Amino acid sequence: MSQIKIAPSILSADFACLGEEIRSIDAAGADYIHVDVMDGHFVPNLTIGPNVVKAIRPYSKKIFDVHLMISPADPYLEEFANAGADIITIHPEAGSHYHRSIQSIKAMGKKAGIALNPATPTSVLDHVMDMVDLILVMTVNPGFGGQKFIHLLDKIKDVRARIQATGRDIDLQVDGGITPETSKQVIQAGANVLVAGTAVFKNGPDKYADSIKALRG
Ligand code: DX5
Ligand code: ZN
Repeated sequence: MSQIKIAPSILSADFACLGEEIRSIDAAGADYIHVDVMDGHFVPNLTIGPNVVKAIRPYSKKIFDVHLMISPADPYLEEFANAGADIITIHPEAGSHYHRSIQSIKAMGKKAGIALNPATPTSVLDHVMDMVDLILVMTVNPGFGGQKFIHLLDKIKDVRARIQATGRDIDLQVDGGITPETSKQVIQAGANVLVAGTAVFKNGPDKYADSIKALRG
């Protein structure tokens, strides 16, 4: 299994000084910068758009992992790619043709991710396994940070087995309710990229490095 990567979700950062926050988590050992984009329609919360991604991009050379919880997503893919996203993850329910959405992301030279809500079956992966670079298993219903982890360990194992069957290098990311305790469980089940908002940011900048380290299992 590849090394465990930590992707702090900037949803829990101090938005009044987002650039500084990104510099701090970069220095503290973050592997990916996870950016949660919400539209108040696909999920019941509003966050940020491509202009903010563009503004924060210079603050880190790490991988910008942009999680789109917006519907439709297709009209905005190019803007997020141009803003500096490295990975763009979409939800299959966000549009009628997610195969095409993934094709579009790949055609722009970006890595493509597909996100599975807690009730979304892994069968949505059937015909895109040869295209995706990342599979995101949501362990909360998307929309807010700080929610309680939903035990979907068998689902994570199922996705790991599907990835292994392809022989491709696909990230298995888990997002929602990740703590030093749940991180061990999801790593055991096969996850290699852990998103964490609350667990990284709650103890303040002096502790970012410790908080990130505590999630590596
Ligand atoms: C939820 C987001 C998550 C969220 C995680 O819709 O996709 O990335 O910020 O937050 P915590 O780690 O607090 O559950
Ligand atoms: Zn997310």
